[in-house]
Parts: sequence; C-alpha cells; structure tokens
Amino acid sequence: MGGVVLLVRFLSIATIIICLCNANLGVPYCKEIERRALLKFKQDLNDSSNLLSSWVGEGDCCHWAGVVCHNLTGHVSELHLGTHYLSGKINHSLLNLKNLNYLDLSKNSFDGSQIPDFFGSLTSLRYLDLSQADFQGVIPHQLGNLSSLHHLDLHGNYFEVNNLQWISGLSLLQYLDMHGVNLSKASDWLQETNMLPSLVKYLDMSDCGLYHIPGARWYCQHD
Ligand SMILES: *[C@@H]1O[C@H](CO)[C@@H](O)[C@H](O)[C@H]1NC(C)=O
Ligand SMILES: *[C@@H]1O[C@H](CO)[C@@H](O)[C@H](O)[C@H]1NC(C)=O
Ligand SMILES: *[C@@H]1O[C@H](CO)[C@@H](O)[C@H](O)[C@H]1NC(C)=O
Ligand SMILES: *[C@@H]1O[C@H](CO)[C@@H](O)[C@H](O)[C@H]1NC(C)=O
Ligand SMILES: *[C@@H]1O[C@H](CO)[C@@H](O)[C@H](O)[C@H]1NC(C)=O
Repeated sequence: MGGVVLLVRFLSIATIIICLCNANLGVPYCKEIERRALLKFKQDLNDSSNLLSSWVGEGDCCHWAGVVCHNLTGHVSELHLGTHYLSGKINHSLLNLKNLNYLDLSKNSFDGSQIPDFFGSLTSLRYLDLSQADFQGVIPHQLGNLSSLHHLDLHGNYFEVNNLQWISGLSLLQYLDMHGVNLSKASDWLQETNMLPSLVKYLDMSDCGLYHIPGARWYCQHD
C-alpha cells in the first residue's frame, strides 16, 4: 500500500518535471504584434480559395498555413504564400515582421498593382519572389536597400525600370531573374549588371527589350 502511494507520488512529481521541461524546451509561441500584423495583412487580401483559413483568432500564428517562425525566438521568419490565389492589396503591416527573411508571393494576382515602396524597408529579407503575380509599373528603387538579399525573382510581371542603379545595393545577390522586365529606359543596364558581385550565379535578363552586346558579362536577348 505504502509502495503504491510512493509510486503515485513519484509519478506525479515525474509528470510535473516533464511538464516543466516541455515548457522550457517547447517551440516558442508567436509574438502578439506579429500575429496582429498577419491578420491585418490578410484583411486587405482577397483569399478567394480560403487557403488562409487558419489565419484567425488568438492562436499561435507559427502554426498558420505558410508561416514559419524561428525555432528559438518565435519570430515570423518566412512567409510561403506562392500560388495561394491571393489578390488585393499588400498591407504595410508586413513591416512589423522585423525578422522576415523569406517572402514568396509568386503566382498570385495582385491586379496590376505596383510593388509597394515599403518593400525596401523589409531589410531582413534574404529571399524575395514576386514572380508571375500580376504586378506592374516601375520597380521601386527602394529595393536597392535590401542589402541582405540573396535571391530576387521578378519575372513574369509587367515591370519597367527607369534605371538599374539600385541593383548595386544588392551586394549579396546570387540569383536575379528579371525575365520580361522592360529595360528599354535603363541605359545603364550594362554598367550596373557588370558591377553585380561575382556572387551572382544565376542571372536572367532575357526578353527585356535589349539585345546582345559582345563583351558584356551578361546580356539580354529576345527569346
Ligand atoms: C475575390 O476574388 C474572387 C475570385 O477571383 C472574385 O470573384 C471576388 O469578386 C473577389 N472579391 C473581392 C471582394 O474582391
Ligand atoms: C533550430 O533550427 C536550426 C537550423 O534550422 C537547427 O540547427 C537547430 O537544431 C534547431 N533548434 C531546435 C531547438 O530545434
Ligand atoms: C492596412 O491595414 C490597416 C488596418 O487594417 C488599414 O487601416 C490601412 O488602410 C491598410 N493600408 C493599406 C495600404 O491598405
Ligand atoms: C535606403 O534607405 C535610406 C534610409 O532609410 C534612404 O535614405 C534611401 O533613399 C534608401 N535607398 C534606396 C535606394 O531606396
Ligand atoms: C517598354 O517601354 C518603352 C518605354 O517606356 C515602351 O515604348 C515600349 O513599348 C515598352 N515595351 C514593351 C514590350 O512593352
């Protein structure tokens, strides 16, 4: 009898210890300010296929569809929202995701809107994919402030540029896809692309309204 009581005591103490350990080692919960930022971001979108249906209420936003949080800090670090049939506006509440380093909004339909200038302030970004998302207009030179960017994909929209000076700010870039961007006003394209760091392993500037210039490190061509 005494043994059973002891065993029960031991088990309950063990349970408490296991619970404490789990609380300490557990994956961190999402930040309140970031949860609210995601809800605002969703509010301005038309989520016609309901793929963001998990984005509701007070829950842990680290478990919402497409959201990845840092496993130690709990800050939202990645948004994987490619091919989510989203349209509408992109709210600047994204700026509250201070640790966002990966943003994929490709293959959605932003109704011919421009890339918001505030994207240039998402300075933690290492990966930005805005390809085939029905954007148009001038690519904001503010993107040149994304100095951590390794991967930039802008292909398949209706973009143009006034110049390419801003690209020189992207000193860590390894992948750049500008396929189909109208570069006809960018008389500096040769100079600026030649100044891209040798880190760049992939560069696509084809179908940009330019043509091959012998001796260029990279060139545009109609395909
Ligand atoms: C949302 O998108 C669907 C499908 O594209 C469209 O039928 C609907 O009118 C849109 N709603 C709003 C509020 O824009
Ligand atoms: C967190 O992620 C990193 C890299 O993705 C991994 O090396 C590390 O083991 C993870 N830590 C925990 C506590 O899961
Ligand atoms: C962003 O969302 C806030 C709050 O929902 C709203 O007041 C603001 O007008 C939105 N901004 C844009 C640019 O849509
Ligand atoms: C980068 O940011 C600084 C300060 O926020 C601003 O003055 C500058 O115009 C920005 N540069 C570009 C290329 O947007
Ligand atoms: C590219 O832009 C120039 C000048 O803005 C314009 O004249 C031309 O028609 C555009 N090319 C394409 C393929 O849209």
